[in-house]
Amino acid sequence: MDAAKRIQELQEQLQYHIYRYHVLDDPVISDDAYDALYRELQELEAAHPDLVSPDSPTQRIGGQIRAEFTAVQHPRPMLSLSNAFNPEELRAWRDRFLRLLPAEQPEPAYVVEPKIDGLTVVLHYVDGSFTLGATRGDGIRGEDITPNLRTVKALPLGIPVTGGAQAPARIVVRGEAYMPIDAFEDFNRQQAAAGKRTYANPRNTAAGSLRVLDTAITASRPLKLFCYQVIELEGGPELASQWQALDYLRELGFPVSNHNRRFVDFDELVTYCVEWEDVRETLNFEADGLVIKIDDFATQERLGAVGNAPRWATAYKYPAPEAVTRLNRIVVNVGRTGTLNPAAELEPVRIGGVTVSNATLHNADYVAERDIREGDMVVVKRAGEVIPQVLGPVLELRPEGTQPWHMPERCPSCGEPVQRPEGEVAYYCVNSACPAQLVRSVEHFVSRGAMDIEGFGIRQAELFVELGLLHDVADIYYLQQDQLLPLEGFAEKKVDNLLAAIQASKERGPTRLLAALGLQGVGITVSRALVDHYGSLSALAAASRADLEQIPGIGPKLAESVVDWFAREPNRRILQKLEEAGVRTEAEAVEPAGPQPLEGLTFVITGTLPAMSRDQAKAYIEAHGGKVTGSVSGNTDYLVAGERAGSKLTKAEKLGVAVIDEAALRRLVSSEQDG
Ligand code: IVH
Repeated sequence: MDAAKRIQELQEQLQYHIYRYHVLDDPVISDDAYDALYRELQELEAAHPDLVSPDSPTQRIGGQIRAEFTAVQHPRPMLSLSNAFNPEELRAWRDRFLRLLPAEQPEPAYVVEPKIDGLTVVLHYVDGSFTLGATRGDGIRGEDITPNLRTVKALPLGIPVTGGAQAPARIVVRGEAYMPIDAFEDFNRQQAAAGKRTYANPRNTAAGSLRVLDTAITASRPLKLFCYQVIELEGGPELASQWQALDYLRELGFPVSNHNRRFVDFDELVTYCVEWEDVRETLNFEADGLVIKIDDFATQERLGAVGNAPRWATAYKYPAPEAVTRLNRIVVNVGRTGTLNPAAELEPVRIGGVTVSNATLHNADYVAERDIREGDMVVVKRAGEVIPQVLGPVLELRPEGTQPWHMPERCPSCGEPVQRPEGEVAYYCVNSACPAQLVRSVEHFVSRGAMDIEGFGIRQAELFVELGLLHDVADIYYLQQDQLLPLEGFAEKKVDNLLAAIQASKERGPTRLLAALGLQGVGITVSRALVDHYGSLSALAAASRADLEQIPGIGPKLAESVVDWFAREPNRRILQKLEEAGVRTEAEAVEPAGPQPLEGLTFVITGTLPAMSRDQAKAYIEAHGGKVTGSVSGNTDYLVAGERAGSKLTKAEKLGVAVIDEAALRRLVSSEQDG
């Protein structure tokens, strides 16, 4: 048999077995048999690199590293949901929409689905190939995480996965990527053992695993997927209802929850919702509730949306689960601004399927008001997003000999006396040289929403501060290779990557930089308003309180916080050091939207291009108004082909599609711009 044929056969077989294993949880061959097929494919592909397609199961291991995420416009707004917290609110939701329907219309049927607590993903397929996957973002635009999603085994790279259905010309599907609870706990244990950061809950872990530039990281994380909505469909069957849509998704090979139910009787639906609270405790994924949707699409359409929540659906939310455990010790953590935050070290306990061993105690008043003591049995609550919190002691279970707790008189990090400003709840360490504060400031500075320095987290912050390599956040930009190489666990490649990430962060721009500096009350939104107004941090530094208060959204308190910060000598020094290191502190002039020379043209990219990665080429084409799809068809205007172009080139030639190289693509953009 020729290699091409065998490769295709192996790809199809492996795809099927991946589907059996990861989507149906019902494998039909042993791991050994699977491995043998996989190795055979790997060897054949190694011998015939031109026959490796991006959809091959061997390409799910990641390894591609990108410089940044590009933005993707969703075909329609990704709506969110209203909530109901009890049966009465659920009935009120139904009463609200029934009033809007014609009296003669019978009550619609409903579909009830688990509300999976993961990361929303929007998946695009063209002619059966997975071409684009994006996060939800702000609902209008998300981030392109296609290469990351390719590593998620439950996500079909080609549909239909097995015979039966026909591939639609185009389908956009919404789903939720998540990490199973057991996998999350294993993963966290491994992270802790390796001295790496641990995560608060499966949701954050899933989100963190998908939003990384190094796709090998995503590939190493045990992520799964459920799909629940057809956003767009072209060249497929007429779908009249959600229930049909779910069936269709399943038929194409998408993972669809088998907890989905259809109801015609609303009372039965309510009973199901109430009783499902116990079921969710037993699941291996986190669900914070159920989603109730009107089944038929005609009624959905008639009802429409209020704001960004459809009237035809709502979420039935369960209260956060609680448990009782022993509070072993109260520790005090020092925050970024010097606040002293008491926290509980707990005897590990399972709450809603997740093991919890730390919880917040908020502040000293909170502890005093509830008389929470070391050694107490306490009620702990865990709500999906937030840090678990101690609600209070169970007094009947209080052991003998416990003592009321008091805030220590000295900072646990630097030993300086603590202070409590008049009228404030918080105690502070006011020593601006306190190392714990600096660690927190650095941690915030490098974090994802701020300067986003990959490979730099709390561990590195702690280490570098302890070693005296960092005295303020600006010192990050003065770290040298020869300072880091001698450190344990800092091999050359790791140091190079870290320094490159630090270098790259210099271009994040003043909005992110200002938010990263962590002025009281100045998050990314305020920061944007300030930078939009002043254009640079030096102009902002010169602003007076009165100036600042003129800006919409900036009140007297914020204005004072900004002026105070820039007035302080150490902060001015930080700013100067940042500028001297080449960190960008000025906004770029906004360029008017350019002409769109590729408007109306559809491209397919194949092979290795000389100067751009395929992602970059795609972004380039889209930035100039063109469309990029995954496979060559009669609708393709140009195939952009690089080295080792394979079957797509053959197909393009057969269909008479114009084949161009990267240089020609660039010419297309510039010549059309001239003309
Ligand atoms: S439907 C208009 N169905 O819950 C339809 N959402 O705000 C809106 N979610 O983050 C979404 N499971 O991604 C729907 N079975 C399900 C869901 C679900 C989880 C998420 C969704 C969004 C949030 C709703």
